[in-house]
Amino acid sequence: MATAIEWLDDKLRILDQSRLPREQVLTDLDDYTDVVLAIKEMRIRGAPAIGVAAAYGIALGASSIKGASKDEFLTQLNQVMQAFAASRPTAVNLFLAINRMRRVAGGESVAEIRNSLINEAKQIHREEITATELLSDLGAGLIKDGYRLLTHCNAGPLATAGYGTALGVIKAAKDQGKEVSVFATETRPLLQGARLTTWELRQENIPVTLITDSMAGYFMQQRKLDCVIVGADRIAANGYTANKIGTYTLAVLANAHGIPFYVAAPTTTIDLSLTSGYQIPIEERNPEEVTHIQGVAIAPEGVDVANPAFDITPNQYISAIITERGIMRAPYIESLNTVQ
Ligand code: MRU
Repeated sequence: MATAIEWLDDKLRILDQSRLPREQVLTDLDDYTDVVLAIKEMRIRGAPAIGVAAAYGIALGASSIKGASKDEFLTQLNQVMQAFAASRPTAVNLFLAINRMRRVAGGESVAEIRNSLINEAKQIHREEITATELLSDLGAGLIKDGYRLLTHCNAGPLATAGYGTALGVIKAAKDQGKEVSVFATETRPLLQGARLTTWELRQENIPVTLITDSMAGYFMQQRKLDCVIVGADRIAANGYTANKIGTYTLAVLANAHGIPFYVAAPTTTIDLSLTSGYQIPIEERNPEEVTHIQGVAIAPEGVDVANPAFDITPNQYISAIITERGIMRAPYIESLNTVQ
């Protein structure tokens, strides 16, 4: 499978997720502003992948600052970091990556700082790969043979630049010899489920059935689902979780039907600085994403549109949060505090 993000020393190669599955286009980015744009336009997307891309993007930005004194270099580097911080507000992995990059920018010379930034970006990437592998193995223990799982949005290798979170758990369950099958919601407006999750699962030979977002309740009522598993963009200290819009609806439905609802995320997605999930900033995106599908208008011109990209799932609907440091259960305010 093509990798979501690859560092080629002087440029960043990305698999353009906006064009999948119709075309597999690899794009080389050597200007940090193009990396910022790729994140905004969701050619790179998914919380951990955004963090990794931003780290490499900052390293690229640092290499492009030429002929400056150290002070001038640091001022310009700060502007590069600000540009990434303004790209997407919800996934905390982005801000964690920026802070880590900021911390290593304290070397003696500009050349030294440039080097440390590249090394730190590679380290952030390696850590996400390891974390997603570990959490997938741990989470697979919750999945029983024959399980039919529902997932929302896309939380596979594309979204993590690693092994995947929700999809990682499903893949690991299969590797443990369990027979699993998946219902993937299409995930309007940008169809990450229809376009990316189905694409990734088919490559893994995991049976997948695509449904529209509004069909989930029907299949739960029909007893066709054994659990729901999703990724996360930010988890507050109380366990309230931001994930793709529609996740909250699925959690309430799962609760009403007595179906376990799991969140799988590396600890880089946990934000202990927020005591409540309602403090998580929710990105509002371009109305065109709702009025159009793949460039084709489906609504009357000028109609009022709301387009929040994420919602918050309260902790009472979450059966467990699967991280690389263990499977966390309520009370989350206590269990999550032990992982970071
Ligand atoms: O807007 P997106 O596509 O970046 O949103 C992605 C999600 O909501 C994912 O579920 C989340 O980032 C987890 S990715 C492992």
